[in-house]
Amino acid sequence: MFKYDLTEEQLAVREAAREFAQLELLPGVIERDREMKYPQEEVVKMSEMGFMGMMVDPKYGGGGMDSISYVLAMEEISKIDASCAVIMSVNNSLVCTGLERFGSEEQKEKYLPKLVSGEWIGSYCLSEPSSGSDASQQKTMAELIGDHYLLNGTKNWITNGGTSKLHIVMAQSNPVLDHKGINAFLVEADWNGVQISAKEDKLGIRASDTHTIMYSDVKVPIENRIGEEGFGFKFAMQALAGGRIGIAAQALGIAGGAYELSKAYAAERESFGKPISYHQAIGFKLAEMATDIEAARLLVYKAAWLKDQGQDYNQAASMAKLFASETAMKHTVEAVQIHGGYGYVKEYHVERLMRDAKITQIYEGTSEIQRLVIARSILKGMLYPPL
Ligand code: CAA
Repeated sequence: MFKYDLTEEQLAVREAAREFAQLELLPGVIERDREMKYPQEEVVKMSEMGFMGMMVDPKYGGGGMDSISYVLAMEEISKIDASCAVIMSVNNSLVCTGLERFGSEEQKEKYLPKLVSGEWIGSYCLSEPSSGSDASQQKTMAELIGDHYLLNGTKNWITNGGTSKLHIVMAQSNPVLDHKGINAFLVEADWNGVQISAKEDKLGIRASDTHTIMYSDVKVPIENRIGEEGFGFKFAMQALAGGRIGIAAQALGIAGGAYELSKAYAAERESFGKPISYHQAIGFKLAEMATDIEAARLLVYKAAWLKDQGQDYNQAASMAKLFASETAMKHTVEAVQIHGGYGYVKEYHVERLMRDAKITQIYEGTSEIQRLVIARSILKGMLYPPL
């Protein structure tokens, strides 16, 4: 039975992440957003703090922590800088956890210590110009020739695309088999034939680097395939289920950051002779924010808890991501409204949080895809038409 009671260790991780975000991320966050400046130094510091491989086994240099600790850290970092949070989320959940769970011992020994230490950053390359939500329709091809695959195709919207040294690339090797022909590969960014396009100029999470990546006749050794031939789609889906918990925590943090700023502003700002928080128009907004954020928190922690217990967390991860990202979008808009004109300028942070919130409804599966996953899960096994 899910029980929400944080341990001393989990509380310490949350406190460390909160302090780190305040001291190290807050000072430059507006400038990095404005200039689309990748947080190079900040990512190094996040690695030193152990935030880049939190759940990885200590034998590979990781923190050996549970998923609850990870979402607590994600939540605190996202309150201040959602760009740093997505860099952290992709490296932790999609890349490190995916590799640790499904990679061979040789692959883990070769790559995990680098990814955990921050020496390398990882990226996860599934989306293509013509395949986003319908992820099984991969156009990137990987043809097996002797002891290697020849990789050709284009991936887009790749988080960490410009800085990543290791790409996990999904590609089709046997189109007749549909999704069962897809493989997942570990591809090093400096191999011949890997070409990175310019950084995307985005609405939000502007400091994170998002790129299109082209692969032209890239030779990928057979030993860099993750799992058995044809395991790539299942790998992609299982990594994404974990990734969605991280993005849910990011959305929760964005909503929480907007709420904390709004509460403080509403207590200080006066109109009609009293703090605006004492007007029902504002007090009720704050009450709804607090309630939705608490509900999102319970869903996010429950999904992380299920994962830690070794139970099925697919449906819970999608519910957490759906609700947390909708909450983040709705309440960051309200946060701007509470701040009035001040909310519309960069100095007060809430306009950035509103822009950052939007992507949480899109990446790692849109809100529509989360509803699809949830609907399939809750209806599984039911007879149609009903008897
Ligand atoms: N775990 C294990 N297996 C799974 C699974 C899961 N979570 N989900 C599906 N599968 C398996 C199914 O069991 C099935 O296996 P069998 O053939 O053996 O029966 C197989 O995969 C195919 O499943 P579906 O028939 O359900 O597949 P589908 O084509 O209908 O698609 C989908 C399912 C849920 C819509 C999937 O395509 C999807 O998740 N789409 C969204 C993609 C996405 O999230 N992209 C985000 C890009 S990454 C990103 O944003 C990262 C970043 O940089 C921030």
